[in-house]
Amino acid sequence: MASGSGLPVSFRQAAVLGLLVLASALPAARSWSKEGHMLTCQIAQDLLEPDAAHAVRHLLPEDVGGDLSALCVWPDQVRHWYKYGWTGPLHFIDTPDKACSFDYSKTVSTGDCHGPDGAKDMCVAGAIANFTSQLLHYRHGSADRKYNLTEALLFLSHFMGDVHQPMHVGFTSDQGGNSIDLRWFRHKSNLHHVWDREIIQTALTDFYGKDMGAFRKQLEHNLTKGTWSDDVSSWGDCEDLLSCPTKYATESINLACKWGYNGVRGGETLSDDYFDSRLPIVSRRIAQGGVRLAMFLNRIFGYHNRDVAAPSS
Ligand SMILES: *[C@@H]1O[C@H](CO)[C@@H](O)[C@H](O)[C@H]1NC(C)=O
Ligand SMILES: *[C@@H]1O[C@H](CO)[C@@H](O)[C@H](O)[C@H]1NC(C)=O
Ligand SMILES: *[C@@H]1O[C@H](CO)[C@@H](O)[C@H](O)[C@H]1NC(C)=O
Repeated sequence: MASGSGLPVSFRQAAVLGLLVLASALPAARSWSKEGHMLTCQIAQDLLEPDAAHAVRHLLPEDVGGDLSALCVWPDQVRHWYKYGWTGPLHFIDTPDKACSFDYSKTVSTGDCHGPDGAKDMCVAGAIANFTSQLLHYRHGSADRKYNLTEALLFLSHFMGDVHQPMHVGFTSDQGGNSIDLRWFRHKSNLHHVWDREIIQTALTDFYGKDMGAFRKQLEHNLTKGTWSDDVSSWGDCEDLLSCPTKYATESINLACKWGYNGVRGGETLSDDYFDSRLPIVSRRIAQGGVRLAMFLNRIFGYHNRDVAAPSS
């Protein structure tokens, strides 16, 4: 892989440290909480078929003992490192204010999927397609692999979570709710953060004794026998892996408008009413992300893989 800036290592480390300090001072972390990502990845890994389960274990570094969820937050940890700075815009989509729609559009000037400098495909929907197409070459041997497929797996797994977090596909001017400051019960927060972590944390504390395993059991119960069991098979419907992320992003901005932004004013206090009505949405999005990540991985690594073109080399 390219080594980056060519600066002496100590300078690069200093730059990285500086960025980390800056980053930790920023209130706006843009991602499902660690718990949200882990739950999505655990649900997905439980649904893997043998070929995909094997490939995932093979790609994961040995020290995580085959547990994908242990590294599902890795992309958040590295996004402020110099080497991975380019991945920052891949965690979200900024859509036009109040439009409640997402237009991927390949034309950079009119589409919503681009980086801050207008670079094409640099948004969470584009990233999922990118890392999916890299992984589709996994089964064709390793001779001269251009990409690090371990990283591709971790990015795909993480971004499949992010694209399902409604406020990751939010309005441009408020940065997906990051600049809408408010209170969550008694403490300061912002609307983006409420959807990333406050709702999940409050549910964990109030209902599950802070035990993520108990939350996960409930989610899996609702998937297999409970409230979502009739819908689950349709969640996995997808003609073309590379364009389905657009559908997931569109669902997210619709939910962001209907449940995220709706009726919320900066400066107010959100509490029980908001929590009770939004937790089911958050839970369902976590579960949907898991089911769809499994579907992607099963098709990417499946023996009957019908998504890959003949290898080009
Ligand atoms: C796709 O991934 C490669 C590295 O693996 C990166 O250089 C490129 O910018 C990525 N593009 C998008 C749209 O994510
Ligand atoms: C792929 O990426 C991982 C994580 O950054 C790294 O530990 C590993 O050494 C890389 N593998 C190759 C072959 O570069
Ligand atoms: C599971 O479904 C029940 C019944 O609809 C609901 O009350 C509960 O909150 C759901 N739990 C989760 C974690 O989704």
